[in-house]
This record gives sequence, structure tokens and C-alpha cells, in this order.
Amino acid sequence: MKTRITELLEIEHPIIQGGMHYVGLAELAAAVSEAGGLGIITGLTQRTPEALANEIRRCRAMTAKPFGVNLTFLPSVTPPDYPGYVRAIIEGGIKIVETAGNNPQAWLPALKEAGIKVIHKCTAVRHALKAQSIGCDAASVDGFECGGHPGEDDVPNFILLPRAADELEIPFVASGGMADGRSLVAALALGADGINMGTRFIATKEAPVHERVKQALLAASERDTRLVMRPLRNTERVLRNAAVDRLLEKEKALGAAITFEDILPEVAGVYPRIMKDGDLDAGAWSCGMVAGLIRDIPTVRELIERIMAEAERIIRDRLASIIGAGRA
Ligand SMILES: Cc1cc2nc3c(=O)[nH]c(=O)nc-3n(C[C@H](O)[C@H](O)[C@H](O)COP(=O)(O)O)c2cc1C
Repeated sequence: MKTRITELLEIEHPIIQGGMHYVGLAELAAAVSEAGGLGIITGLTQRTPEALANEIRRCRAMTAKPFGVNLTFLPSVTPPDYPGYVRAIIEGGIKIVETAGNNPQAWLPALKEAGIKVIHKCTAVRHALKAQSIGCDAASVDGFECGGHPGEDDVPNFILLPRAADELEIPFVASGGMADGRSLVAALALGADGINMGTRFIATKEAPVHERVKQALLAASERDTRLVMRPLRNTERVLRNAAVDRLLEKEKALGAAITFEDILPEVAGVYPRIMKDGDLDAGAWSCGMVAGLIRDIPTVRELIERIMAEAERIIRDRLASIIGAGRA
């Protein structure tokens, strides 16, 4: 399959693995790139720029194919060493960066000068247009279904993607709710040039997370996610658990007076305990509604090959036969 995204990123299949805190390590990124997609290392999971440089080296030892780095710009009183991370990316020879969160404008000149292509992840058409206007090469359009931060507009992909297609000139991928060949064909039909997946890639053999995390995704249905931190305008879609129930109780009880400090026990520093130790109730962790479509734990290559084969079958057989194409 050839799309504007496979051409831009020089990859075989239009499938990207989005940055995921404590999941997007070299093992997963390399497996996705090796299978012909675009794997992405999550920059901020590495505690220092030196650690990121090392992770990039580790990934390069596992694959000669292109892979990227995610840089998430969070609102923060004491921001991470972003100049150091950008330096590690450039010096590490990375050619593709996925930015997310705040506007990446301040970092674009350095990234572009190093010949790096920037994909900005956005949850609104106006943000995607802004990304286009400041020189981003592509957008990743994240619908309301997505795991992680869906923004505050609550527009699902059936509306968001065609709206993005109507307005954007740069290529874009559909993100949020993508799981299989059906998702890919639907995303292409709605105007996207490929897909970005988060949650689905966690339930793969190579994802470097505790087995209990993978089993939780198999057990979850599409009704098992919750939105937390909405009163703080930092909405996150997470898998429901005891910590999430506690957090939502606090939101209800404190109303508009709630502060980030009130929910620190449920959200601060919980990812290593969940992803590495498998302590699933340690706090709130991102998960998409797409959990309802996850039924197995294949290798990354099996997953990507299955998606591509299913997508081609749908286009060639089902769709072509509906319009009578190919019939004498
Ligand atoms: C466990 C987890 C952690 C995530 N961490 C990040 C992150 O650190 N930075 C980021 O930009 N996106 C992050 N995301 C969002 C994904 O990159 C992707 O946009 C999202 O998962 C797409 O929705 P899906 O889960 O329905 O596929 C995370 C998602 C999950 C499930």
C-alpha cells in the first residue's frame, strides 16, 4: 500500500505506533519498524537526555529501518530538559519526531535544520491547521475514542477525520480507536493517509510491559474506560480501576475547587509501577475504547501483516464487489 504517509516517512505500511509512556521503549519501536511500520520511542520515559541517547542507540542496534521519537510538551512548573532531549534526538540521527501536547513551534527550527520530519499529534482541526501553518510535515489526528489525552472538544473520529481531510493540505494519520484492517480502510475512506495506534500495540508479544497489563486489555470491553482530570482541563482516557474510581469520587466531591495536588496519589509517578511491576491499580493509566476490539496478543509482525492483509481483502473483495467492480 502506498500513501502520502508511506512516501513521506519512507516506510512500507501506513501504520505508526504512537508514543506511550513506559511502553514506547526500544523493543517495541524496533519491532514496529522491523515489521514495516514506524516505531516511536517515547522521549520523556527516559529520565535524562543521556538516557534517551542510549535508548536511541539500543533501538538502532535492533533495526536498520527508520524509527522516530515522541516529544510530549506538557504544561509543567519545572519543565523537563527539552533542549537536551532535542539535542539527543538530533545527535542520535533521528529523522522523524512525533510532537504532542503544546504547540511545538519553538523547537521546529532546530528539528527542521537537522532534516527531521515532524508529525504533530492534535485533537482538533484548528490545532492541526496551526501545526500545518508552522511547518509540521504531517499531523496525527486523535479522536475522542483515543487512549491518553483526547482534548476537551469530544469529537469522535467519524466527524474529526473528514473535517481534517476537508481542511488540511499536509498528510495525516487517523489516531484513536484503530485496531485492525477495518480501521485502516475506514481511516483511508475518511480521508486519512494511514493510522496511528497506541493501545492495540500494548497487547503484543514485544511490548515491554508486565503480562498483567496485556491481560487487562484482553479482559476489558469498550465500556471500561473513563475520562479523568476533566475539571483540570487535562482530560485523560484511562482504564477503569480502583484508583480511577477514587479519583472520580474526588472530582465529584471537590468540584471546581479541585487541584492537581488533590489527585497526586492517583496520577503522579504511577506508570513504572503499572507497566513494569504489573500493579494495575497503582493509579490511572491511559487506555483507549479500542480495548473492546483486542482479543489476542500477537507478535508485532503478525499484527501488522494481519492488518494489511485484512485491509487489502476488504478493498479488493468486499468493497469492489459492492460496486460490482471487476465483474464482466
Ligand atoms: C499507555 C499509554 C500511554 C501514552 N503515553 C503517551 C505519551 O507519553 N505521549 C503521547 O503523545 N501520547 C501518549 N499516548 C497516546 C498514544 O500515542 C496514541 O495517540 C493513542 O493511544 C491513540 O489511541 P488508541 O489508544 O485508541 O490507539 C499514550 C497512550 C497509551 C495507551
